[in-house]
Amino acid sequence: MSLLRLEAVTRSVELPDAPPLEILKGVDLEVAVGDHVSVVGRSGSGKTTLLNLLGLLDTPTSGQIVFDERPVSQLGSRARDRARGSDIGFIFQQFNLLPGRTALENVMTPLLYATGRQFWRRRQLAGEMLERVGLGERMLSMPEKLSGGEQQRVAIARALVRGPRLILADEPTGALDIDTGASIMALVDEVAEQSGAALITITHDANVAALARRHYRLDKGVLTAVDVTRVLAMAAPEVSL
Ligand SMILES: Nc1ncnc2c1ncn2[C@@H]1O[C@H](COP(=O)(O)OP(=O)(O)O)[C@@H](O)[C@H]1O
Ligand SMILES: [Mg+2]
Repeated sequence: MSLLRLEAVTRSVELPDAPPLEILKGVDLEVAVGDHVSVVGRSGSGKTTLLNLLGLLDTPTSGQIVFDERPVSQLGSRARDRARGSDIGFIFQQFNLLPGRTALENVMTPLLYATGRQFWRRRQLAGEMLERVGLGERMLSMPEKLSGGEQQRVAIARALVRGPRLILADEPTGALDIDTGASIMALVDEVAEQSGAALITITHDANVAALARRHYRLDKGVLTAVDVTRVLAMAAPEVSL
């Protein structure tokens, strides 16, 4: 079953005194329920632009995006915000935790926008999610007192607490050392699998990308499917760092 589909999607930006810059060129991508897809590309290849489209934060210049069998262009901005809030979880390189708020408060934040049981039971749900990422003992710690790997675990708990059907990870291990990064990716994979969520990992690190089940390469705005041996071959020094 298709969860998210990009059909001939382009994204251009207007530049002063120059023709428009075409950042994404005719991207086709289909992500099924529970899929795990990686997109690997160098800096400047269009990864963040693609992620903003996948996360319904931006709209294509041409082509269309279909989420849950509905063209996103037919949703009003409130319906789009609602779909993003309840169905999509974001994990970023820089964690983006709220300083001065405990781990528990950070994980509760998305539930403030939920309704019914999720809203009323937000403290308990956030606590359970922190247990699942192995931070049951650190619920009342401030992010600045946690290590990088622990901060990313809090961010993962926050991304997953509303039970999204799609998890988008933009360079999730970019700020971590290799071993911590590997354990963080294993954790994201495990919690996505348990909850039946689809996972799209966008990274310049071919070793991180290789953990997915299906692989794509983004090169100057052109997305192509590659097999895992090609992904690992891309783990050349200039690509992996
Ligand atoms: N709003 C914008 N205006 C002008 N250029 C942009 C804009 N957004 C992105 N770009 C350019 O498009 C290219 C791709 O950007 P981006 O999607 O951030 O790539 P990546 O995340 O792979 O590094 C880069 O060359 C970037 O400078
Ligand atoms: Mg980027």
